[in-house]
Amino acid sequence: MYANGICSLLSRLVPEGGEESAPLPGNLRIWPDDARALLRALPGACLDQLFLLFPDPWPKARHAKRRFVHPAALPEIARAMKPGAEWRIATDDPTYQEWVAAVLGAQALFDAPPPATRRPADWPGTRYEAKALRAGRTPLYWSLRRTAAPA
Ligand SMILES: C[S@@+](CC[C@H](N)C(=O)[O-])C[C@H]1O[C@@H](n2cnc3c(N)ncnc32)[C@H](O)[C@@H]1O
Repeated sequence: MYANGICSLLSRLVPEGGEESAPLPGNLRIWPDDARALLRALPGACLDQLFLLFPDPWPKARHAKRRFVHPAALPEIARAMKPGAEWRIATDDPTYQEWVAAVLGAQALFDAPPPATRRPADWPGTRYEAKALRAGRTPLYWSLRRTAAPA
């Protein structure tokens, strides 16, 4: 379903021509479907880190329920994360930026300091980010922490 992204990932992990035989990292797992289904299937409190880099913004209000950052999705995402785990979110889309700020402002599952306007040094750059910067857009970079779940 998300074949292009998976091909692009694999092309970075194996050298040209080694697609069939080159070893892959032993801890690599690839999920070729909707990542929201995977998040729901994971055991609780299993993730140390989660990256949501330049997600499709679904700018139309009637498509908002497809967004990863959504009041209905946050509890599912928080459930899979360890207390203190980090969730990194980046987007260059102004509608999504406003949306993320609003959704994060109305929840208590994550500590959410204001976003950075430059990519922090230890974040990976992405192809889509490079495209956004070339087009003159300003991405925002959030680093959230899962708050401790109530006892
Ligand atoms: C704008 S691209 C950004 C790609 C990459 N993260 C980057 O920054 O270059 C968004 C990607 O998210 C994938 N995607 C969108 N919704 C998804 C979902 N529910 N589950 C998994 N992948 C999804 C799309 O197929 C696409 O490859």
